[in-house]
Amino acid sequence: MNITLTQPDDWHLHVRDGAEMASVIKFSAQQFRRAIIMPNLKPPVTTVGAALAYRDRILAALPGNASFTPLMTLYLTETTKSSELESAASCEHVHAVKYYPAGATTNAGAGVRKLANVYPLLEVMARAGLPLLIHGEDPNPGTDVFDREGIFIEHQLVPCVEHFPELKIILEHITTTGAVQYIESAPDTVAATITAHHLLLNRNAMFEQGLRPHHYCLPVLKREQHRKALLKAATSGSAKFFLGTDSAPHSATAKESACGCAGIFTAHAAMEFYAEAFEQADALDKLEGFASHFGADFYGLPRNTSTISILKEPWAVPGSYVFGKDRVIPFRADKHIPWKISASKA
Ligand code: NCD
Ligand code: ZN
Repeated sequence: MNITLTQPDDWHLHVRDGAEMASVIKFSAQQFRRAIIMPNLKPPVTTVGAALAYRDRILAALPGNASFTPLMTLYLTETTKSSELESAASCEHVHAVKYYPAGATTNAGAGVRKLANVYPLLEVMARAGLPLLIHGEDPNPGTDVFDREGIFIEHQLVPCVEHFPELKIILEHITTTGAVQYIESAPDTVAATITAHHLLLNRNAMFEQGLRPHHYCLPVLKREQHRKALLKAATSGSAKFFLGTDSAPHSATAKESACGCAGIFTAHAAMEFYAEAFEQADALDKLEGFASHFGADFYGLPRNTSTISILKEPWAVPGSYVFGKDRVIPFRADKHIPWKISASKA
């Protein structure tokens, strides 16, 4: 079997920087035409100048034949200036602003304590048409880790959406039935991305015969009933749900540690993983909308004209890939996976 799709885009991607970025960028460029690049570097990408410099480094690291466009984002802080957001809105290479709840995830220390603290900045973004990308988790250390998404939606997102009917908001990497229901009921200005790993795994995967650091990500994996709700949403044909891998490479050393980092690396076979999940739901015919149409439509960008093919042809994922000076352990390392992408066509 073989499916051909409009070339997809990844609406949520971490590629890191320097030698690590140079090791992983080729994987995304092989599959996707464009990707929204997360700004949680050290230090975070908080200005248009920093985003453009980061973009140049990504372009310089791409393989010569790659046709891949990094879509840059700014990292929102409580001290971001309105003028910076205005320049972001008028810069053709900056496409969104990312909200990290302070301390909620990797390099989120400079994030925002609560959405209400940045309402004046959201006002500027709403006026300028600049989308807000939200890591939707309550960062309070007392909040149960499995309840963080629900509490954030109820206490922070719902009032924010009501307050800013014009602001485009993407709730990223959703993980729960509650998030799916909220997105379905929200106005058309609100959409969500879904990762491949949240479509394929439930929280048991973190504890299979021992602690599995390579299945730890944020928001953390949830119960099977939530995975099923995500799969149903992704394969529903609703334009409110689209692809964002949240591929988040960390070195094997940083993951296999007494305090291991959150993040699952899926960029090496992202479309293969989505194809596997959609096939499970008997919904391969819904993959193209989710992967290649709805995200571009939401951002107001043209759909791609190139295509990719994905073949039903099992292959073995390597145990690791080079990652700067270390290695990264890919999702499904040392396992056979059922689908294989073939080269994209212009
Ligand atoms: C991401 C990372 O490592 O940058 N980690 C993750 O588990 N998804 C940060 C994020 O998106 O939360
Ligand atoms: Zn992320």
